Amino acid sequence: MGQAINPTRRYKEKIMKGIMLAGGAGSRLYPTTKVYSKQLTIIYDKPLIYYPLSLLMLAGIKDILIISNEETIPLYQKLFSDGSDIGMSISYALQSAPNGIAEAFIIGEDFIGSDSVSLVLGDNIFYGKFSFLYEAVNNHTKGGTIFAYRVTDPERYGIVEFDKEGKAISIEEKPLKPKSKYAVPGLYMYDNQVIDISKNLKPSKRGELEITDVNRVYLERNELNVQIIGRGVAWLDTGTPEALLQASNFFGVIEERQGLKVACIEEIAYKKGFITKEEFEKLIATIPTSYYKTYLEQVLEED
Ligand code: G1P
Repeated sequence: MGQAINPTRRYKEKIMKGIMLAGGAGSRLYPTTKVYSKQLTIIYDKPLIYYPLSLLMLAGIKDILIISNEETIPLYQKLFSDGSDIGMSISYALQSAPNGIAEAFIIGEDFIGSDSVSLVLGDNIFYGKFSFLYEAVNNHTKGGTIFAYRVTDPERYGIVEFDKEGKAISIEEKPLKPKSKYAVPGLYMYDNQVIDISKNLKPSKRGELEITDVNRVYLERNELNVQIIGRGVAWLDTGTPEALLQASNFFGVIEERQGLKVACIEEIAYKKGFITKEEFEKLIATIPTSYYKTYLEQVLEED
């Protein structure tokens, strides 16, 4: 007798902790960032930070630590509270000075515990087919997984160089003479070694614990998996006023055309089963009359 085929889901979700680093002065966006953080600036119809948060949610990550500065943490707390409304656990930790991205793993040591961890930068926006993300989370076992995305301005990012076989051979932070056009976006997945690796780093010339140095250690240990994100996925910049406008226009066009919102964390929480229908209804009832509320009511109705 033939064996029955189990209807399994295509991507099995794995438990991973999530850290979102959302501090930074954002001084290039002065005066907008004089009063509040860059990650709270509006991208079309919601704060920027919703976009990277939704990415972690779509990856099935429910336990998140937001690391930021003293001034901004209370604002994020106002926005997300403890995350229970959207079926998540969101906690907060202080980075007292801009000591670099890798410091997140030292600050987050207790939070990470003995698990693996995914870090997303609070100003990085991705849009498109996320199979690269689901596959990376699903396949991640040992070492680190980072991504590579072709850009026209490689001197602004961490840059990865590949050999002819497509194997990563070097990583440099903001090189004056980039060895490739492949930038490393602010989305990283690591096993538990990342805590010790970060603790043993020396500050760079700009006085920061560099994420690129973490990646270099994994590369030297032959434990770095670099996945190229190809066409069909947008990784948007948010570093300049023009970039913010472009991102707003981009999402405005998509949302208006389809009548579907991008990075709508309440919808994602419901659709991914983080919250029940009753909890979703209760959540909608707490939202003031707005386009956003009308949209969520429509999501509920159409389900
Ligand atoms: C940081 C990282 C860089 C990475 C970039 C992605 O740059 O150091 O390697 O490519 O984020 O957004 P920074 O934001 O410090 O300029």
